Order: sequence, then C-alpha cells, then structure tokens
Amino acid sequence: MILAEAPTTGITAAILAEKIRSRRARVGIVGLGYVGLPLAVEFARAGFSVTGIDVSERKVQRINAGDSYVGDVPSAILSPLVAAGTLRATSDFAALDGLETVNICVPTPLRKTKDPDMSFIVSACERIVSHFHSGMLVILESTTYPGTTDEVVLPMLSKSGLHVGADFFLCFSPERVDPGNPGFRTANIPKVVGGCTPACTEMGRLFYAQALEQVIPVGSTQVAEMVKLLENTFRMINIGLANEIALMCDRMGIDVWEVIDAAATKPFGFMPFYPGPGLGGHCIPIDPFYLSWKTRQAGIEARFIELAGYINGQMPHFVADKVQNALNDAGKPVKGSRIHVMGVAYKRNIDDMRESPALDVILLLTRRGAVITYSDPYVPELKLDHLRLTASPEETAAGADCVVIVTDHEAFDYPALVERARLIVDTRNALKGIRSDKIVRL
Ligand SMILES: NC(=O)c1ccc[n+]([C@@H]2O[C@H](COP(=O)([O-])OP(=O)(O)OC[C@H]3O[C@@H](n4cnc5c(N)ncnc54)[C@H](O)[C@@H]3O)[C@@H](O)[C@H]2O)c1
Repeated sequence: MILAEAPTTGITAAILAEKIRSRRARVGIVGLGYVGLPLAVEFARAGFSVTGIDVSERKVQRINAGDSYVGDVPSAILSPLVAAGTLRATSDFAALDGLETVNICVPTPLRKTKDPDMSFIVSACERIVSHFHSGMLVILESTTYPGTTDEVVLPMLSKSGLHVGADFFLCFSPERVDPGNPGFRTANIPKVVGGCTPACTEMGRLFYAQALEQVIPVGSTQVAEMVKLLENTFRMINIGLANEIALMCDRMGIDVWEVIDAAATKPFGFMPFYPGPGLGGHCIPIDPFYLSWKTRQAGIEARFIELAGYINGQMPHFVADKVQNALNDAGKPVKGSRIHVMGVAYKRNIDDMRESPALDVILLLTRRGAVITYSDPYVPELKLDHLRLTASPEETAAGADCVVIVTDHEAFDYPALVERARLIVDTRNALKGIRSDKIVRL
C-alpha cells in the first residue's frame, strides 16, 4: 500500500541519490550476523564508508580487530577494510546521526507458540528512531510476514513527522544469502527490493545497484516480503515431499536416492529435492510459519506448510528408529550402545547449529540410553540440555557400535569411515556409490 504521495523527484531525493551514486552516502548495517556482516563487507568493498551496529560487544570488538566470526567472510577480506577505516563496528546507535542509509538485519525467530517474534525488529527500530533524520534510506532485510514494513516499521519512523517517499525512503529487501555456498555470495545473488512508494523503490534499487550485480525492483514492500516467504516455503514443502517419499520408499524397500537421481534425469518439469534427518537453520524451518501466522489472520489455513512442518518434524524420530533397528539387527540394544554422530551443524560445510536436526537426533538417542560422541570440524563443542559434548577426531567412529551421518561435511574422509566403522546409518547419502553391508541408508 502506498501511504504517501511520493514524488520521484524532490530535493531530498535528489541529494540522497547523488550521494549514493557518488558513494559518498555513509552506510549503516544494523545486525552483524550471517546476513549483515557480508552485506557490510560488500558495500565497503564497493567504496562506501560502512558502519556496522550490533548489540553484541563481542562481535563489535572482533570486527574492529579484523577478526571475522562468519564463515563466508574471511578475516583476510575483513581486516584490510577495517585497517583502511572503510568498515567499522559499534554498539552505539548514535552513529546513525551521521549515516544516510540503514539496513536492518536482525533475527526473526519464532516464539514457542510458533508465532513471529518481532521483538528484535521493534527494538532495532526503537533505537533507530532516536537518531532518525531527514534524507535517510531505511531497508528492512530480516525475513518477516507480509505487511511488516508498512504496518510495523513505517508507523515508528513516521512518528518523526517526516514523510515517507519525500523526506525519507523505506524499503523491504529479502536476504537470500546461502552460507557455505561458494558459487553464490551476497554480490552475485540477484536482489529483490520493494519500497513503500515508487520513490522508495527507486532509492533502494539505486543503493543496491552500487554494490550488487543485479537488482529486481518490485511494486511494494508486501511483494518483496512475500517473495522471500514463497522461496522458503517452496523449499520447505518440497523437502517435506522428499521426506514423505523417503518414508514410503523405506516401507516398500525401495532406494529413495536412486529414485530421485533417476527422476532428476527428466530435462523439464522436475527439480530434485532430497530427504534428510530434518530441517535446520534460521530460515527454512521458521520462515513459512511467519506466512501461516499471517494468513490465519486472514482466515486461510496454510495447509501445505502445516503438513510439511509435521513430516519434516518426524524425520529425527525416523532417524532414531533407524539407528535403533540397525543396532537391534546387529544384536545390540540401543541402551548402553555407543553412537558416534558425524556432523552436527544444520548443513554441510558451515558452523551454524541453529535448529540443527542433529540436536534432536542426539536427544532422542540419549533418551533411549545411548552414549553419544560426535565429530564436526566446524563445531568444537556442543551444549544440549544437560549434555556437554566436545568434538572427537573422526577415528573415534572406530570404537562406536553405530555411526550416524547427520551432516555430510566435505571434510570427512568417507572411505576411511566405511573402513573403520562397524555399522553406519547414512541420512544424507554421503556414502553414495560405496557398497558395504555395514551401511544402512535413509
Ligand atoms: N542466516 C541465513 O542464512 C539467512 C538467509 C536469509 C535470510 N536470513 C534472515 O536474515 C535475518 C538475520 O539473520 P542472521 O542469520 O544474520 O542472524 P544472526 O543471528 O546471525 O545475526 C543477527 C545479529 O543481529 C544482532 N542484533 C540483535 N538484536 C539487535 C538490535 N536490536 N540491534 C542491533 N543488532 C541486533 C545480533 O547480535 C546478531 O549479531 C533473519 O531475519 C533471517 O531470517 C538469514
């Protein structure tokens, strides 16, 4: 919805656009996590002066020491930008007084009730409002339900008495970063942006075009918000389908991996998704519930989302059953067995543990009386309820009654694992092509 008649030209817009084009606009990024830090680095590399603002003093200190804590941002890239004074971090929101643009990249988790937790966005906006001034471009990047930018952020900023589309510019732009994916980085992932007014959209487009390869303007903030939810819901539901097909194949004694690989040879109308131990990360298990929460208010039940959520949520239980059955077939009860988990991050080649299905698998097996060890080159220690685990070398697998591959990191030596392990449950098809009676596949 366009809330104000926005001139696409105007003195404030013209001055800000000129500052952006000439890269004299001072850029602010609020929230320096997996999304915010790579974005800050990209704008600094494009020649902007960038200030990152985060409530975590530890993160601020590490950035100012040129020491990256985000896997996709090597310290070797961060450190020269900090040394040159192009990129700095602070926990003081007063820095906003001297900035022209602000991207908000704070977390958007779910409450226990699976309702959106907007507290991070609201608290960031409250802090921004105190230092809000004419001629600013504000872009929300946190994944959220359609309507957030216009219904939550805009009223807070408008209390300043400034007019959107004329005195300041407000957009939503979904973040699509894929941690651990070397082929796609912030700079070469096409960026969708939608503003509260046409002038806002144009300002957002102009801003991103300075640092990113491709920008796709859309007609409203709601469209931009919905784009992200469609993308992640599409993925969550298709993984749910792959998981349900895996459960069916298991019952019928069919190799689901072979089925999917063969189906994927169809050159049109099919896109492969793969089953696994469950969903993880800050996006796919969470974002679709932002949509279902919003649509419930409009009287529509998001049935695909609920169903896929249920099936995906069953997968850790299915994996625990698989492990227990494999042990029983080998003549061992799960109680007292030593089980070694390979990989605990939520996906391969990264250190992110948020919502990792490995946590559920470990808890379920512990409750059945198993003794757990794990290996993960990215996660040195693990705290889970009363459990405190430290990563052990891959060789530990040799002493286990059963090994479960939960996360298929490329760093693991799979042929050696098959040599040394007694029994392996492979939930990711990491041992594709390896034939052995020791292997039980999902
Ligand atoms: N991680 C991903 O792969 C990914 C991908 C696409 C979209 N997203 C979305 O991007 C958003 C950020 O995700 P993330 O993974 O970067 O989260 P993150 O937890 O890694 O980083 C968020 C940062 O915000 C800081 N923060 C929290 N409250 C703040 C406040 N009031 N003011 C300033 N800083 C504050 C935290 O200290 C943290 O450093 C979320 O909405 C997420 O859904 C994430």
